[in-house]
Amino acid sequence: MEKLKHHIFVCGSARLVGENKGFCLQKGGVDIIQAFNEEVQDRGLDGDIMVTSTGCLGLCSKGPVVIIYPDQTWYGKVSVDDVEEIMDALEQGETVERLTF
Ligand code: FES
Repeated sequence: MEKLKHHIFVCGSARLVGENKGFCLQKGGVDIIQAFNEEVQDRGLDGDIMVTSTGCLGLCSKGPVVIIYPDQTWYGKVSVDDVEEIMDALEQGETVERLTF
């Protein structure tokens, strides 16, 4: 396997302990994951970028939360409509400042 350029983590809301609030999932987490996967495929980046669902990141009030490594970019209140802009920024080595925290 080639070394990834970016790994996109999208909160999938799962919690092993405590109450599962499912905030990011309720706010479209699955659709966001799917949108990122479609963008990666459409742009021919499937060897360079991986998209993974995470458990709850403990930042529910900022959800849906998306984290990109190794860039260490944290996005909050992401919607499906933001995914294309985030991918454009990622390819240009930039961030979507209005969504970062
Ligand atoms: S459910 Fe996404 S940060 Fe908690």
